[in-house]
Amino acid sequence: MAFEIKRIGIIGAGQMGNGIAHVCALAGYDVVLNDISPDRIRAGLATINGNMVRQVAKGLYDEDEKQRALSRISGADSYTGLDDADLVIEAAVEKEEVKRRIFSEVCPHLKPEAILATNTSSISITRLASTTDRPERFIGIHFMNPVPLMQLVELVRGIATEDETFDSSKEFVTRIGKTYAVSEDFPAFMVNRILLPMINEAIYTLYEGVGSVDAIDTAMRLGANHPMGPLQLADFIGLDTCLSIMQVLHEGLADSKYRPCPLLVKYVEAGWLGRKTQRGFYDYRGEKPVPTR
Ligand code: NAI
Repeated sequence: MAFEIKRIGIIGAGQMGNGIAHVCALAGYDVVLNDISPDRIRAGLATINGNMVRQVAKGLYDEDEKQRALSRISGADSYTGLDDADLVIEAAVEKEEVKRRIFSEVCPHLKPEAILATNTSSISITRLASTTDRPERFIGIHFMNPVPLMQLVELVRGIATEDETFDSSKEFVTRIGKTYAVSEDFPAFMVNRILLPMINEAIYTLYEGVGSVDAIDTAMRLGANHPMGPLQLADFIGLDTCLSIMQVLHEGLADSKYRPCPLLVKYVEAGWLGRKTQRGFYDYRGEKPVPTR
């Protein structure tokens, strides 16, 4: 039996949070978009507007539908805005301590029956659930980036997740027009367990001087038919998120094959996080690869 979801709260208005808000509002849900930073909420709302303008220009829907969807989204820089939500999806940074703090602060504001979900890319759902007041109403709903374009959502149950939470999440994913794949609760689930070691290996390939940024990305685009090279994809995901996922894999599976490449660590330490900071393996002010050594 599924629980009726009408109003959705999203914590984190970054690239994933604003994408999730976008697809939920288009599917007819009321959405509250929360972030610690009012500037990030404003930027998130502006991104949603810009992405919807592009979708209208492509003929996916009309201007009226866009306006109706936008009118369903409101911003809130405190958790009190989430007290009516039936489903709250956390999409803040990929740091376990940040997520734990958010859950301890947000839970007292939520309706007892509200479902709490996390968009984590890699962290244990069971462990995160245990830091909330509702492990049975906690689940992983893992969207892919960019949310408005990507079809897949991974659904991950924690050990305590009850059937109603799982069924309601499946119904929600279907209503927003996505397809779910169910993953067991293992480090980085399925997509990132496979994808991130490939990206990390591309970074080692660069680090060891086997090829340039351009050569590695061209090789994988034209040689493996990937739509985007692995280094370009890493910049797109965010190098901080890539590093966090590799650390979760390395610690969680205790296998040296998941060791994050030192060059990835160095870039994150430099604050070169990819597209979101205008610099990563590419320089987005000029779209040129930056030096690596
Ligand atoms: P991002 O860096 O673009 O956005 C994170 C947002 O969280 C920022 O706006 C930040 O201000 C906000 N935030 C930080 N602490 C907060 C708090 N205490 N309360 C409310 N908001 C807070 O990160 P991105 O890429 O959107 O990632 C978010 C989550 O989604 C992470 O868990 C990540 O692993 C996951 N994810 C990321 C994907 C990607 O390709 N980037 C793909 C799928 C999942």
